[in-house]
Amino acid sequence: VRVLSVVGARPQFVKLAPIARAMPGEVEHLIAHTGQHYDHNMSDAFFADLGIPAPEFNLGVGSGKHGAQTGAMLGGLEEVIEETTPDWVLVYGDTNSTLAAAIAAVKLHVPVAHLEAGLRSFNRRMPEEHNRVLTDHAADLLLAPTQVAMDHLATEGLAERSVLVGDVMTDVLFEVRDEVADAPLDLPVAVSDGEYYIATIHRPDNTDDPRRLRAIIDGIGKVGKPVVLLAHPRLRAQADKHGIALDAGSITVSEPLGYPQLVNAAARSAGVITDSGGLQKEAFLLRVPCTTLRPETEWVETVDLGWNVLVDKDFDRLAEVVERARPAATAAAPYGDGNAATAVVEALVARAK
Ligand code: UD1
Repeated sequence: VRVLSVVGARPQFVKLAPIARAMPGEVEHLIAHTGQHYDHNMSDAFFADLGIPAPEFNLGVGSGKHGAQTGAMLGGLEEVIEETTPDWVLVYGDTNSTLAAAIAAVKLHVPVAHLEAGLRSFNRRMPEEHNRVLTDHAADLLLAPTQVAMDHLATEGLAERSVLVGDVMTDVLFEVRDEVADAPLDLPVAVSDGEYYIATIHRPDNTDDPRRLRAIIDGIGKVGKPVVLLAHPRLRAQADKHGIALDAGSITVSEPLGYPQLVNAAARSAGVITDSGGLQKEAFLLRVPCTTLRPETEWVETVDLGWNVLVDKDFDRLAEVVERARPAATAAAPYGDGNAATAVVEALVARAK
């Protein structure tokens, strides 16, 4: 069986790591990197830290408007798929790289498997929502992380193509959490365990409207403990463009961290403030309270279990929400037990034609 994994952006490298490791000898696993993320600390550092084999193909597509970026990937991936004739094209998550690979494969009649299928925000302003819905409907095998995702797929008439495999980000998180348990904190500001927060902001809805971005930064700046803001390139670019100082009040600005450093920093923090999907779930799995800067979330289990609170307006009150009391302990495991990658590989091998 030959599987071609297509990745391009930071969260996809994290999901690829446990899959690459779980591939048995009889599966030939090839990796194509679209080049959507290209900075060292957004891309190569993840391959190195997570022991991911170097991609066989790198399209070097880089940044651009959605259509131009996705279109460039589509053309490049068509060549790669024709050259490699895989049994499966495996696509990850919800980025433009995911959609491009799914379209390229389905047009060539090559089976597509979508890892992290069935997530929905029901917010049609989000590029990720377009990417997930379109990818799910193009794909032949839908690998769902949760029962909620399975239910969404069933509602859309896709139950027959769906398999519940669990969440592969849980696999890699548990592994890395154990590896960094004794590692020192690696942050640009001196902080002690449990006495600081980690923040990330990168969604266009939060970064591209200067009034909203300023309100968010002001709100975070009022938190009573140091906040380390891990600045995604888009956040920096938009803040520069609009003359917004990111280091307001309690905030110290940092470069994005590598994955092990991020897991370590999140695990020892008092809480996480984010608009990232992955980090909401990572916070929950590390049992760190999360405050999410969005009107809704795909990872509804984190909210239902009390570990995640959504704040979408009223950023004046953000500090109060961030500094709320810790929720009740829970043993719930809606994201599986850390063995999802094995289930994914088994599903691919069993269903290869
Ligand atoms: C993409 C995904 C998003 C995911 C995120 C993780 C889409 C539509 N969105 O958003 O789902 O959560 O990745 O980070 O695919 N840039 C650099 N260096 C890089 C990469 C990007 O400077 O290595 C800059 C570019 O100027 C670009 C901006 O960051 O304009 C945004 O990058 P882009 O690939 O468009 O999407 P993300 O916002 O990262």
